[in-house]
Amino acid sequence: MNDAKEVLFEITRDRLNTGLRGFPVGTCRTSKVDPMEGVSYVGYPIAELVELEPEAVVYLMLHKNLPSDDELAAFKKDLSSRMGLPAVVLQGIQNLPKEGHPMEWLMSGLLLMGMTTKTGDYMEDALNLVARAPELVAAIFRVRSGWGDPIAPDTSLGLIDNFVHMLDVPGADPARLGKVLSTFYILHMDHGGGNLSTFTGKAVASGHADLYASLTAAMAALYGPLHGRANQDCLNFVRKVGTSDVGEVESYVRNALANKEKIYGFGHAVLRAEDPRATIQYKVGEEICGDDPLFQTAKALRVAAVKVLSGIDKVSNPYPNVDAVSGTLLNAVGLTDSNYYTVLFGLSRITGISAQIVDERLRFRNGKGAPIYRPKYIAEDQERRSTKG
Ligand code: MLT
Repeated sequence: MNDAKEVLFEITRDRLNTGLRGFPVGTCRTSKVDPMEGVSYVGYPIAELVELEPEAVVYLMLHKNLPSDDELAAFKKDLSSRMGLPAVVLQGIQNLPKEGHPMEWLMSGLLLMGMTTKTGDYMEDALNLVARAPELVAAIFRVRSGWGDPIAPDTSLGLIDNFVHMLDVPGADPARLGKVLSTFYILHMDHGGGNLSTFTGKAVASGHADLYASLTAAMAALYGPLHGRANQDCLNFVRKVGTSDVGEVESYVRNALANKEKIYGFGHAVLRAEDPRATIQYKVGEEICGDDPLFQTAKALRVAAVKVLSGIDKVSNPYPNVDAVSGTLLNAVGLTDSNYYTVLFGLSRITGISAQIVDERLRFRNGKGAPIYRPKYIAEDQERRSTKG
């Protein structure tokens, strides 16, 4: 039984201006992040879900139970029937400036989708967005990279196979690409209620902005280099290390730290052990690209960086996080431009954030929904300072 009056957290003055770190602000029905075990979705550890069809995991996010075979078939059919972006969205994408970051393109695309297709019903918009976002992201890759015009969805294919079809990555093997993208999609879908993009999306939706506007704000949060955009920096870091000899990698890490450089892909605000999302990706790497030199470097970092970071008192988590090896796998299967990695994160996270917005808007407080976010800031340093003598 929940005790409504239970004290969960004490807010002392020294906790102010610490990014709400650890403050309980609400409940979450889609996922839980345990500091030692990592993320589970609706009670299922992520490792139990990663081999499932992506649509089954989307269904779990939205309905809070895994689908039966019949439910899954009907759900896939429903998503297929929703596929297809309006021409005006694709035209808008084709007119965006190439200097824009792919995440800026994603935000623009989401706004265009909202302008042309929003229904105002959070669940309906969530289903449409999950079904159509792969086409948007594939179009961003193709147009911005100069691979060619957008490719229309093939509604006989599932979400990720369709995404692979619409990307049509030059020189890539669709089966290997599909395996890495399906793993990536499931692993990045949700990470508790308080990660910055999810929190932002829910905060914006709490003012009753529509789902597309809320997700655009969430993607702006994900764009930050301390949040989702860290995944592109991570591959660049692995490339810079340039060796897979554990001893040399250890020296590299020690030198980098001495020069106050960041060790990308290690540590996390909540986790205190290796992120299971990293553990799973190392395993997929062994299957997909075991001999790849960058994968060898990422594996050497898994040993050497943990060793070095463990010896530093103020480092609370020296272990690999979700970004440690994701870029290495994407690179190995043909997605070599790391600037696009955060849009892949966004594509997946759109599902979790949408599901959490549906819960907060339509289900919490017996269907009334959570009220508009309005935390309190304590006024400080506001004495009147007159410029007159
Ligand atoms: C995430 O998946 O959102 C990241 O691990 C960051 C977080 O959980 O705060």
